[in-house]
Amino acid sequence: MIAKTFQGLEEVLAEELTNLGANDIEIGHRMVRFTGDKRMLYRANFCLRTAIRILKPILRFTAHNADEVYEAVKSVEWEKYMDVKSTFAVDSVVFSETFHHSMFVAYKVKDAIADYFRDKTGERPNVRLNNPDMKLNIHIAENDCTLSLDASGESLHRRGYRQKTLEAPLNEVLAAGMILMTGWHGETDFIDPMCGSGTLPIEAALIARNIWPGVFGRHYDFEKWPDFDPELLDEVYNDDSEEREFQHHIYGYDLNVYAIEVANTNAKAASVTKDVTFTQQDIANFEQPEQPALMITNPPYGERISSPDILGLYHTLGERLKHAFVGNAAWIISYKEECFQEIGLKPTKKIPLYNGELECKFVQYEIFDGKYKEFRGDGEKLNKVEVIERPKLVRKPRRDELFRDKDKEPVVIENERFYGHEKFKEWEKREARKAEKLRLAAEAEQAEKTEKDAGDQKPKERRGGFKSDRKPGGFKGKGAGFKGKRDNGFKGKRDDNFKGKRDGGFKGKPKAKAESYPERKKRELKEKLMNNQ
Ligand SMILES: C[S@@+](CC[C@H](N)C(=O)[O-])C[C@H]1O[C@@H](n2cnc3c(N)ncnc32)[C@H](O)[C@@H]1O
Repeated sequence: MIAKTFQGLEEVLAEELTNLGANDIEIGHRMVRFTGDKRMLYRANFCLRTAIRILKPILRFTAHNADEVYEAVKSVEWEKYMDVKSTFAVDSVVFSETFHHSMFVAYKVKDAIADYFRDKTGERPNVRLNNPDMKLNIHIAENDCTLSLDASGESLHRRGYRQKTLEAPLNEVLAAGMILMTGWHGETDFIDPMCGSGTLPIEAALIARNIWPGVFGRHYDFEKWPDFDPELLDEVYNDDSEEREFQHHIYGYDLNVYAIEVANTNAKAASVTKDVTFTQQDIANFEQPEQPALMITNPPYGERISSPDILGLYHTLGERLKHAFVGNAAWIISYKEECFQEIGLKPTKKIPLYNGELECKFVQYEIFDGKYKEFRGDGEKLNKVEVIERPKLVRKPRRDELFRDKDKEPVVIENERFYGHEKFKEWEKREARKAEKLRLAAEAEQAEKTEKDAGDQKPKERRGGFKSDRKPGGFKGKGAGFKGKRDNGFKGKRDDNFKGKRDGGFKGKPKAKAESYPERKKRELKEKLMNNQ
């Protein structure tokens, strides 16, 4: 299996996997490979704090051109994973000289799956980008291709506790990764003096009490797979045997009173209000805490959040650390070198880390009092900065960057930018034709569905025994236990989502007679495309 993560978090993710009992752990670029059984697959989704998604590879092959990709994908026994009524989507990641565009590879995979079912049944499953029944991922590194099922669906950073948000919140996966990187698991108090919506304090509370991030009742795409085992998921969901007491306390502060309101709402939804206190306070008024504490904070960088005096803010932060955080360690994630300069303290560790697109640094400061020689027994060490080099941090250029022509304005196709390189001209035309074809097909399908719905008096047919067996009741036991134990926010959500999701997937499809509506649409589309050429 593959757990995907952000660049820089691979090692903490590998450590989390080791603690979960995964085997054959292998660190890669923004991902960690591992092996394990179905329980491990469910636990990886449910328990990992630093994974964005879990993929289950089903086919690995070598391909030298798009036709070979098509043939390999078509050779899979697709009935094992989906049926012709299933909707699906394909995500693609390509690092290759041979395959120039990831979207084209995704089209080939879609075609192969559609043709597989068409050859066997005369019908093709539909592509649906939003909430499909089956999400696939094709990864190509040069000629090495891996086709995987996406077990998570929605990104795992969406724990389900974030009710409200502010500008520039930290991603939950990144926040958890930063905390785990420091080695903190709840051994001291924890402070974030610029907490915004409270992501760091809330993730810290979950880590301190070892509450799995899956407990908030979100869904996973593996619940839609034919081999889904609801009892096993219930077992994983109900197992709180690894939770522990937290003997210390977590504090979040922010200048913005609304941030405090948002952070409190989120902490309530995460059921950690007992462990976390949020208070409005300017960093300028930060006082020496009574108990030993770890500070992790994410001040504004002046990028997404502007502040009238950003350097002044970092200066104040450095001054407060020096005078009011003696004997403790503070970690700061920021983007610009001049901000770190302004802190005016000697860092003890520097870790490169991406926050979204921004290449940031996560920097540690150990604040000693005047007698730090006695404290450490080795004053010299303080002058050495441990720079954690991560060779894998060198980002491979995306394909649009490889072919970038800096003098030209980019052409944007489906959020990807192309810079007018000749090599892409033909491709662009082809892709535009394909996109139009897909759009018309989707239109035809929608029209067909509307026609069918209007004429159909019969109740809709359920499909897939595994799905009808899966009832909200399966989760109810857990939800109910959970409700009593923590908070009542999750249960309703889980059941509601569940119902909507299930019902949405069962719609039957009309059988074609003579020249059916879709056939007519296809014929018209073909004629239209021929006329365009
Ligand atoms: C980048 S945001 C933090 C986002 C947060 N980590 C989250 O996940 O939502 C920076 C925060 O610093 C706060 N801030 C700015 N100046 C401050 C000051 N002088 N004292 C305390 N907080 C301040 C802002 O209000 C903002 O919420």
